[in-house]
Amino acid sequence: MTQDGITFYRSANGVWLVDRVPVQYLGFHEPRSGLTPMPHTVPPRTIEHTGETRSNADRVAALQVEPRSLRTFTPTQAVLAHSAGVYHWTPEGRRLFDYTSGVLVSNLGHNPVRWAERFFRYMGWPLPGAASFTAQSTPDAPTPPAGYFCAVPMTAYNAITPVEAQASQKLVDVLQKSAGGKRMEAVLWAASGSEAIQKALWAAMARDRSRPLIVATRFGFHGKKGLANAVTGSETDTERDPRVRFVSFPMQECRDVTQRDAAFDPAPYQKELDALLHQFGRKIGTLITEPYLGGGGSYHPPKAYLQLLERWCRENDIVFILDEVQANFGRTGHLFAFETYGLEPDIVVLGKGLGNGVPVAAAVGRADIFRSLEYGEGSDTWSANPIQCASVLATLEEFASTDVLGQAREASAIIEAGLARLKQYPFVAALRGEKGGMVWGVEFQEHAGRSAPEWANAFVLACYQGDGTSTDGIHLLGPLSKKVVRISPPLTISLAEATASIALLERCVARIAAEASPATRSAEPALA
Ligand SMILES: Cc1ncc(COP(=O)(O)O)c(C=O)c1O
Repeated sequence: MTQDGITFYRSANGVWLVDRVPVQYLGFHEPRSGLTPMPHTVPPRTIEHTGETRSNADRVAALQVEPRSLRTFTPTQAVLAHSAGVYHWTPEGRRLFDYTSGVLVSNLGHNPVRWAERFFRYMGWPLPGAASFTAQSTPDAPTPPAGYFCAVPMTAYNAITPVEAQASQKLVDVLQKSAGGKRMEAVLWAASGSEAIQKALWAAMARDRSRPLIVATRFGFHGKKGLANAVTGSETDTERDPRVRFVSFPMQECRDVTQRDAAFDPAPYQKELDALLHQFGRKIGTLITEPYLGGGGSYHPPKAYLQLLERWCRENDIVFILDEVQANFGRTGHLFAFETYGLEPDIVVLGKGLGNGVPVAAAVGRADIFRSLEYGEGSDTWSANPIQCASVLATLEEFASTDVLGQAREASAIIEAGLARLKQYPFVAALRGEKGGMVWGVEFQEHAGRSAPEWANAFVLACYQGDGTSTDGIHLLGPLSKKVVRISPPLTISLAEATASIALLERCVARIAAEASPATRSAEPALA
């Protein structure tokens, strides 16, 4: 049924109300068999599922006062009431394996006890279970006035807190001790990844204002605001910043995990860089890239490519910025992606997993570059906030005291083997990811009359709904680049959880394959 360009469907498995979802994201171009119009009086503004009374009420309540632009499209619109470790629970009590970690944020799992205890201690907050909220959390805390408790301030704009000094020192220390972290001398804090990118670029450009041009790698994602947006995407996007020039990032060479160890020819990439240099010379002062294209569809390049970029920067005195906002804190198998890829960036940009859920980011790098910015040029309300700094300390200490990466490597092998088995289905085009890491992209393709975005969305929805044998499901986000679904569980997923969740995922995919094609049901799976 359509009304003012709004289309509503009821799916066989539940109500899926579609309200002006751009067809390129959803994939349903016209009414399909198996989907029948849903009667309604008031145009719904959200996606709802049958049997989810409480979740549906929350969805409707939120969407009545929030614009849809707040979220990217995900066909499940999951409502998450509780979380612990690798699990979320919906308000109805359904358990979902979290295959997103937020968006690669809660690398240590949701609400880890040791992390929370450290975080509370750094803040001087009473630990849960304390006799009273106003109990002295540290012996030296002064007596607070009535109605208050004495703790580290939650905001300390323009002042310095001991926890900030400690976090900055510790972060620099950990980075410098990591292979390739020699240039990590100063920390410019921020409250989001895009803000930290903006600050890194400001600093790099301020180093020599006669060199305003930035080279960015094509189809990268660095954020949606300001300069972070300017270096995202490609030159064909609208409203490009003329200071940004794009070069190719290998994609064909790393379309699938099977190409991981293939020979790499750097010549075409070197040629592009040389052509830029020939055209603009010393006007180029900065280069920014990601260790792997995250938002661009999970392309994990040969090390030699990134090393080529770095070498070119060194040879031409260009600031080399590595955007690890997504890749940091273990996603690529090492604490930092510059270790995995054998790089030594001038500035590394950190975010997401840095605070395990607390909004914090940072540009860290050469002190001489950051010194180019004057008082106030990198400041804002939230940066270096004590809550952020306490969360960073808690995160760094957990990685230092527990073998998170070793555990993740073992779970990684289990998950990757299961994901590779998905390639038996004709609608799965490729699998990409980090060997021994905890991030993959499953790319879908057109099959049996369904487009790649349709398959990708059907996969996300099927995983949410589960296999029907229990109420368990898997939480995923809507596709990247319309057809790539990212798999990124917390690094702390246990081997048993990895085994159980990937088996569930495989059963969910088998279900959509069987629904779509009876032939698939009878065919013997041919493993890729
Ligand atoms: C590589 C990369 N850089 C920057 C950003 C922007 O971070 P934020 O969303 O915190 O602004 C992201 C977000 O996904 C990212 O993946």
